[in-house]
Amino acid sequence: CAALAFAAERPLIHFTPEKGWMNDPNGLFYDRKDDIWHLYFQYNPNQPYWNQPLYWGHAISKDLTTWTHEKLAIGPEHADEGIFSGSIVVDHNNTTGFFNESINPDQRVVAIYTNNADIQTQDLAYSLDGGYTFTKYSENPVLNVNSTQFRDPKVIWHQESYQWIMTVVQAQQYQIQIYGSTDLKHWNLHSNFSAGFTGYQYECPGLIEIPIVGTNETKWVMFLAINPGSPLGGSSDQYFIGDFDGFQFKPMDSYTRLVDLGKDFYALQTFSDVEKTDGVLAIAWASNWQYANDVPTKGWRSSTSLVRNLTLDYISTNPEKKLLSLVQTPVFESNVSKSTEKSNITLQKNDSIDFNADSGVFEFELNFKVLKKLTYPEVPNLDLYISTKDGAESIRFGFNPVIQAFYLDRTTDAFKNPFYTGQISANVEPYLDNEYKVHGVVDRNIIELFFNDGAVTMTNTFFLSEEANPCTMNLTSNMNDEFHIRSVSFKELSV
Ligand code: FRU
Repeated sequence: CAALAFAAERPLIHFTPEKGWMNDPNGLFYDRKDDIWHLYFQYNPNQPYWNQPLYWGHAISKDLTTWTHEKLAIGPEHADEGIFSGSIVVDHNNTTGFFNESINPDQRVVAIYTNNADIQTQDLAYSLDGGYTFTKYSENPVLNVNSTQFRDPKVIWHQESYQWIMTVVQAQQYQIQIYGSTDLKHWNLHSNFSAGFTGYQYECPGLIEIPIVGTNETKWVMFLAINPGSPLGGSSDQYFIGDFDGFQFKPMDSYTRLVDLGKDFYALQTFSDVEKTDGVLAIAWASNWQYANDVPTKGWRSSTSLVRNLTLDYISTNPEKKLLSLVQTPVFESNVSKSTEKSNITLQKNDSIDFNADSGVFEFELNFKVLKKLTYPEVPNLDLYISTKDGAESIRFGFNPVIQAFYLDRTTDAFKNPFYTGQISANVEPYLDNEYKVHGVVDRNIIELFFNDGAVTMTNTFFLSEEANPCTMNLTSNMNDEFHIRSVSFKELSV
């Protein structure tokens, strides 16, 4: 809660640009040789709002939690152009011919991005120093359909068909296109895929194989961002689960699933070249085009989400149905500077379980049981108020068992914008008879919520007055004998 002029609301364990504007994460990859994680991002270093010239900014990390800012990675040829979203692959076998033996196979870095000029084309740039500086391919573009709305290539290596696979959108035709290539330079159209909510346009697709927990099986997941016009308002990510043979993606069912039920989780991208098999790592942009350019931060705008580990599992969405769904858990490393833990408390009206975290960076784990099945006109609430030190401003997170939904009320005086939805909710099916788990990570101006071990997630930013941090927590109920707290822990985090 200390008064940190202008810095109070900058998250510590989420990446933010030093100054200027950031949107989508791009080019995420892991350098196996130097054990370094690379994050690139849509970046306007000159103003704290989206504008061209637009660059790929760059940061690196050893722990996926704290990031070191690096120099601009790729920039446009002209001031009214942009290096739009795209991805990076490591070309171990030098399929492109860009590398010679002096470049370690684990550092043969090739970026595939959209060049936004009079039209949008897919272009290549390669790096001979492991991802710090890039040279644009002299014969760009590598893919041109003469469209102004053709963008966001995400490339993976598909071992079974032994080729590179690109997903890219014909944004305003509502088409994800799947292309194949053996050298990243020549691309053949294999198929088109359209599904889900349309919104105004498609953006940032991605196709990746994800393990099903507790089995040796995997499924392919197609991610798709839409903006504006998401059912949650503005921009959000959806996904489809199915099979992929190197040419066509075939969804296993006709359901459109949402990645995250919050308002600030967009343009998710997975990391390339990660050596783990127990999940796929990804990062999203923690904002929403509806108000991203207007949020009250000083000199910088937007953070990423935490890194998430993605797996698949069968999740109860109601008592009759288990749906194969993404399970998302946060990945970060931090020290616990202070903590408290309580268990087996049946909350009474005047009870309050309290915690204070001066730094405004903390996590909580809450495991509770709903004791009585109440119906209207009862309105039972289990509430976690998260407030500034003086108590003048709060956000409210809670659960109502009659509605069977969690809610977040992030309305504050510090940010008024007609698109900035104050109240957001998520219906969650209990993981056991009337029992729920919540893992929350709060980092100055963002709250990421993981319900029932990541079966449902909800990510939202929030804004307190300048110099104020969210640091006082009070867990309460408006009703006697309705909520049994099996356990609750709060941990103040530092890095
Ligand atoms: C998504 C997006 C992409 C585009 C980039 C431009 O947020 O609109 O489609 O490549 O941002 O900054």
